[in-house]
Amino acid sequence: MKSKIIHAPDLSKAASRRKEQTVFDILKSEHLASLTEMVKGWFYYIKTYGCQANVRDEETMRGMLEGIGCQPTEDAQKADIIIVNTCAVRENAEDKVYGEIGNIKYLRKTKPNLVLALCGCMVEQPEILDRVVKTFPEINLFFGTHEIPNLYDLLFEAMMSRERIINVESKPGEVVEELPVSRLNRFKAFVNIIYGCDKFCTYCIVPYTRGKERSRKFEEVIKECQDLVNQGYQEITLLGQNVNAYGKDLPDKKDFADMLEAVAKLGIPRLRFTTSHPWDFSEKMIDVIAKYPNIMKSIHLPVQSGSDEILRKMGRRYNREHYLNLVKSMREKIPGLTLSTDIIVGFPDETEEQFLETLSLVDVVKYESAFTFIYSPRKGTPAARMVDNVSKEIKTKRFLELIKHLEVSIEDSSKKMIGHSYDLLVDGVSKTDANMLSGYTDGNKLVHFSGDESMTGKIIKVRITESHTYSLIGEIVNGQD
Ligand code: 5AD
Ligand code: SF4
Repeated sequence: MKSKIIHAPDLSKAASRRKEQTVFDILKSEHLASLTEMVKGWFYYIKTYGCQANVRDEETMRGMLEGIGCQPTEDAQKADIIIVNTCAVRENAEDKVYGEIGNIKYLRKTKPNLVLALCGCMVEQPEILDRVVKTFPEINLFFGTHEIPNLYDLLFEAMMSRERIINVESKPGEVVEELPVSRLNRFKAFVNIIYGCDKFCTYCIVPYTRGKERSRKFEEVIKECQDLVNQGYQEITLLGQNVNAYGKDLPDKKDFADMLEAVAKLGIPRLRFTTSHPWDFSEKMIDVIAKYPNIMKSIHLPVQSGSDEILRKMGRRYNREHYLNLVKSMREKIPGLTLSTDIIVGFPDETEEQFLETLSLVDVVKYESAFTFIYSPRKGTPAARMVDNVSKEIKTKRFLELIKHLEVSIEDSSKKMIGHSYDLLVDGVSKTDANMLSGYTDGNKLVHFSGDESMTGKIIKVRITESHTYSLIGEIVNGQD
């Protein structure tokens, strides 16, 4: 089958940051009525990889598909529309996607009318797109993150055309409002407040795939959050690749601290946010977090490295001292705060001494949890033009050593919780033990306990009885079941 290229990705266009105003738009489609007819009785299946932004994108696509009468299915074989929503942040995320397509591509043989689509960050990179287009002739629709609001037109085109449709436009991106949403969780919700990223950390592909930093209007976010409160949601997580850069592109001078405060005042029982960049973290934000009991006392603050020289090469815009001062102020002003982070080992030229500085930073900060990564060159980023000269063996050795150091403070913080009681938002049956329920504390610690499934979605009190490195065991505090 031939391919019809409506837009092809272009990394230099994707990197452009002209100082234009954010463009606001709403959902519109010429083909809504005919498409609704065409998909009568159809099922859809979406498989999402990667970050919360991708999960929230899936929820938009679900909302759009359900808006034209399609029903969800967990069984790809039953589906008439299959969407694989991809991540490109590291190579192993990409490999998982190849595995998934490998598993489902045979469905094309039995279902000639199947819409098999690949979307998200992977297809925004020219070389990866080229490879998947060549390797998987079964896929007949490719679209990038910016194209999600055009899903109706894309589906129509893919269904009407004999050609494979490729529509991946590299652009700063818009803010599209009034998109339908079908949420995956009925008591915890993600709310986008800012899209894109302008930080251009030298290793990272995200600013190219997700476009420029652009904030949603304050009142649109408040409207979405108020709706969630009205529907009885227990937890909102405000989302952005750089959540605390919120408002910098808006004329009305409202910043992230103002947003946090306004959402907290709506009375949602639990409010979280992710991901914060240390460079944009203000004292005003710390004060707001400290002031409102319903803002969870848990902050994800990626450090990436403890070495000033590596931080400079990564383009992180802060040094070790700045980061440590920020942590000091947070720990002083926010009692009971838990901190988590992201760390990359094996960045180009990282010496043993520089790696040891990361270990010493980890020992000083005493994180309560962490995500650790081995550096993975991403084509088109500045770091990918440096020599990836730390050997695989050394990367692995550093990675394991880092985990050992992190586990000391993680285990220690968990042990200290034994005997104390914590509020828990119950997620449901535990993923690791079908006889237990599980949920997260205010500080984002995972607790398993035995209780009745009807507690799902409720906030209950548990006393911690046992601690493991990455989870805790608790028991319900009497008198509340
Ligand atoms: N290699 C390894 N880790 C990366 N991350 C982003 N890009 C890369 C890369 N090229 C990590 C960072 C970021 C997290 C989401 O993924 O630590 O904070
Ligand atoms: Fe990537 Fe850096 Fe932006 Fe985070 S802040 S998304 S690591 S470029």
